[in-house]
Amino acid sequence: MERNNAIGLLDSGVGGLTVASEIITLLPAERIVYFGDTARMPYGPRPHSEVRTFVRQIIGFLENQDVKLVIVACNSATAAGLPAYQGEFALPVIGVIEPGVRAALQHTRTKRVGVIGTAGTIASRAYEEAIWRLDPNVEVFSQACPLFVLIVENGLVDSPEAFRVAEEYLRPLREAGVDALILGCTHYPLMANVIRAVMGPAVKLISSAQETALEAQEILARLDLFRPATAAARHRFFVSGSPGPFVEMAEKLLCRHIQAYQVTLP
Ligand code: DGL
Repeated sequence: MERNNAIGLLDSGVGGLTVASEIITLLPAERIVYFGDTARMPYGPRPHSEVRTFVRQIIGFLENQDVKLVIVACNSATAAGLPAYQGEFALPVIGVIEPGVRAALQHTRTKRVGVIGTAGTIASRAYEEAIWRLDPNVEVFSQACPLFVLIVENGLVDSPEAFRVAEEYLRPLREAGVDALILGCTHYPLMANVIRAVMGPAVKLISSAQETALEAQEILARLDLFRPATAAARHRFFVSGSPGPFVEMAEKLLCRHIQAYQVTLP
């Protein structure tokens, strides 16, 4: 594997850009190749076997783009089968669930932790398993928030509907008195203002983006694969749907001009 190769990230849409943005901040010399599967978004309601098929196709695509590490920057895709991808590809592959769990366990004092995610992620119970592996004494309160991804992808995060929907989804978690809330979907940090307004300032919102970037840094250090900072890093973005809406959101989030290319996967 080459040091000059890129870090590959994938998500169903713009959510994984929250992880991409942390990578760019933490590892500015690294190049990113990002794939947003916007034509097949959302992943949350789909059967895990179907999500795994999509993810395998995307990792195959990223492999052909010469990446040195793949970040499955999507909780639904991580929950659907991270160990399967890790076993099937020669590249190092990491997900976003374990990093978020580590951050939440560092922050909770009451050991009452909330988890929100897509229907697929919550039904998989991947968060409960990951939390209890590290601390069996933590009480976990989980809640699927299926409409959040659509709210984000349609640019509606500041709408009154977003607030109303958030109120409804989050009420049980507020009543449960959690002191840390894992944003168990990479789209949700883009709704953090609304979620914070509903949950109140005492609840720490945990995004796995930063922790995942730290894990990527550790892996590159271990494999001696840091890209030398000789030339500016040029990132590349691919989507399966129409590039327009993706580019608009990506430019806002990453504060830079980008181009995205549409590709059709088998
Ligand atoms: N951002 C994704 C996640 O973390 C995907 C959501 C979806 O497509 O339903 O779960």
